[in-house]
Amino acid sequence: MVIVAIKQLYNNDNEATKVVTIQGWVKSNRNGNKVGFLDINDGSTLKTLQVVYNVENPAWKQLIEVTTGSAISVTGEIVLTDKAQQPFELKLQSLDFLNLADKNYPIQKKAHSHEFLREQAHLRSRTDTFLAIFKVRNQIAFAIHQFLQNSDFIYLNSPIITANDAEGAGENFIVTTITSDQYEKDFFGKKAALTVSGQLNAEAYAQAFKKVYTFGPTFRAENSNTTRHAAEFWMIEPEVAFADLESTIKLAKDLVISVVSNVLENCPAEVDFFNQRLKSTEQSQDNLMKRLAMLTKAESYKVLTYTEVIEILLKAKEQGKEFIFNDIKWGMDLQSEHERYLCEEVSKGPVFVTNYPQDIKAFYMKANPISQDTPERRTVAAMDLLVPGIGELIGGSVREDDYDKLIANKKQFKIENNDLQWYFDLRKSGFAPSAGFGLGLERLIMLITGINNIRDVIPFPRTPNNLTF
Ligand code: 4AD
Ligand code: MG
Repeated sequence: MVIVAIKQLYNNDNEATKVVTIQGWVKSNRNGNKVGFLDINDGSTLKTLQVVYNVENPAWKQLIEVTTGSAISVTGEIVLTDKAQQPFELKLQSLDFLNLADKNYPIQKKAHSHEFLREQAHLRSRTDTFLAIFKVRNQIAFAIHQFLQNSDFIYLNSPIITANDAEGAGENFIVTTITSDQYEKDFFGKKAALTVSGQLNAEAYAQAFKKVYTFGPTFRAENSNTTRHAAEFWMIEPEVAFADLESTIKLAKDLVISVVSNVLENCPAEVDFFNQRLKSTEQSQDNLMKRLAMLTKAESYKVLTYTEVIEILLKAKEQGKEFIFNDIKWGMDLQSEHERYLCEEVSKGPVFVTNYPQDIKAFYMKANPISQDTPERRTVAAMDLLVPGIGELIGGSVREDDYDKLIANKKQFKIENNDLQWYFDLRKSGFAPSAGFGLGLERLIMLITGINNIRDVIPFPRTPNNLTF
């Protein structure tokens, strides 16, 4: 028995073997008086293999009833056809395994809405769309590791259970073994939570290895039911010692360029699939191929300071543009409508926004020198990468290296627990300037595939009131 992936047949890597075994799931079954046709997909490619069987053969009687979704293993001879779409087919010789899917198997050979498929999250991976999404998700994850490994970064597994709220936003999920809130009697003897970011731990290791990155799940009890927020998502957080804002922006840009190029090279069929799909569903979206080509060019990435962005938004307002949040002024947090206006209408591409007001960013960000002209405007050496269709893809900064300023920030940002003392102490332990960022994996997948809901790019999404699978 020579088990062959359908992909290999299409790639012609299999010329020596004529008789092969295929294992997969039935996409469709049609039969007439004499012959029947099964379309089988085995997950190795979006394409299916047509299996031709003789309906009169008593050994294959059960094939007549084979339903969509059934698991099957068949052996047969590969024969060439004259059809361009299906240049070869498998002439059945033996049926090796069959497990029928119920008649009411929900994934049928027709277009299902993404909403319907979210309710079938355990089966949606059998559709073309989800095969394509998760193939690309796999390639993106691999490409990120490859880029960072080739750039001499050390992969660091930061902890999942933690006592710190790295972002200070109070969005932690509590981890407990007790039913009261007497956490001193709890497992760790203190309040514990799922991590919102591995950054603080990564900073400690960057002070030994210079370049490290985390790549793991992060958890936020952020009750915002949007298409871009999940309660559990994956983040990549590079952290570099002896770095500054400029080198961090360059790293973020090089990483995104490298990943997009990698996907274009290694998943052409999937990219083409998304491109066709987007053309027919989203008129306003530009062509996905064009967008991806644009993302591979360094000159597409603009850099603007937060102050410049506010000026651009004020000017737009003057010229008649109305935002839902229309009270544009220095110091406000950028809403996603502003972020999208900026990269979809103004720069028509990705934009790094730098030097945000300190008050709207995290306590660990390094304060910029106070300007003589506008001493009231305190900013930090931060950067966000905003991209068309999504808004914030990356958030990062230089880290505050001054022990006293960090302690002052702790008060200013009302950070109550004391479990960050080790983090502050790093500043007294031979601290080299450190900078890094967090890249949201799901948002990058959305950008590259054109899929517009985060629930559809993670296998089993966790969002408010949603924990079925
Ligand atoms: O901007 P954030 O909150 O930054 C941090 O967590 C820093 N500690 C990163 C660092 O400097 N090491 O999150 C980083 C990115 C966002 O830009 C976004 O892409 C993604 O993580 N993200 C989310 N993705 C999906 N669902 C959510 N609820 C997300 N929150 C953040
Ligand atoms: Mg952010």
